[in-house]
Amino acid sequence: MNRHLLSAADLTHDDAVLVLDTARELAAVSGRAVKKLPTLRGRTVVNLFFEDSTRTRISFEAAAKRLSADVINFSAKGSSVSKGESLKDTALTLQAMGADAVVIRHSASGAPHRLAHSGWISAAVVNAGDGTHEHPTQALLDAYTMREHLADGAGDLAGRRVTIVGDVLHSRVARSNVLLLHTLGAHVTLVAPPTLLPVGVATWPCEVSYDLDAPLPASDALMMLRVQRERMDAAFFPSEREYARRYGLDARRAALLPEHAIVMHPGPMNRGMEITAEVADGPRSVIVEQVTNGVSIRMAVLYLLLGGAEPA
Ligand code: NCD
Repeated sequence: MNRHLLSAADLTHDDAVLVLDTARELAAVSGRAVKKLPTLRGRTVVNLFFEDSTRTRISFEAAAKRLSADVINFSAKGSSVSKGESLKDTALTLQAMGADAVVIRHSASGAPHRLAHSGWISAAVVNAGDGTHEHPTQALLDAYTMREHLADGAGDLAGRRVTIVGDVLHSRVARSNVLLLHTLGAHVTLVAPPTLLPVGVATWPCEVSYDLDAPLPASDALMMLRVQRERMDAAFFPSEREYARRYGLDARRAALLPEHAIVMHPGPMNRGMEITAEVADGPRSVIVEQVTNGVSIRMAVLYLLLGGAEPA
């Protein structure tokens, strides 16, 4: 493994399988009454969040605490960042405090890369979502969830078909998933209106379709993406109703999936827009499991980056 986790493309096939297998072992800890291992005792993990987050921030916090690390939560709101402090000065402060790992979420694509390669800090850097670029631990927890349902937990995702639907343009989740699933040998189809596909998507290792119904009967997993209104500065579709009609997942569409297929969403959901409440809470939905699996994946990532060589 690299010293940092900045992109899903940093992971070779063996690295990815190592993270997934390690997460599976660590998941056992989360099922115990005492959810703690001494592995990262004395190490300091800083959660550096410049952008709002619920799931990802508390997931990294729970993961670090279950490994007995000391956790410092830093959110830009209420910090000197709102007084105009730069990323560099914030980084120097973290370095002075002895951070061993920095988990960063930032609205600017490339901020984690800057932090990792600037020489400002010696900590391992984990990208927890940068702008519209990447979110590698989300892709890992999604692959973990697919493996549990489609490959008996420890098997192979090679040849599995994953359909990812919606606002691909603004989604760091979609990009990281395409990269990781390609590494793992799965086939990915992206479905979106032409206005919500990024420039250059034709060079990504996946297929692209404008029609949601067509790929459904052959999909093993269907991942719905949130329509990211906060990143939209123009009209990307005529109306919410029109979007839901063409690209939303409702019970009629879910019925086109094979019996074994799972429905996923990284959260937060716009219920009634990209997914109906009926499907989100229905029997195929693994959305809540994704959150649970996120803690195990982040435990594995922190463990492998900070203490990996020694046995758990
Ligand atoms: C995603 C994110 O922040 O990129 N959410 C998450 O991490 N669970 C997706 C989103 O915001 O829609």
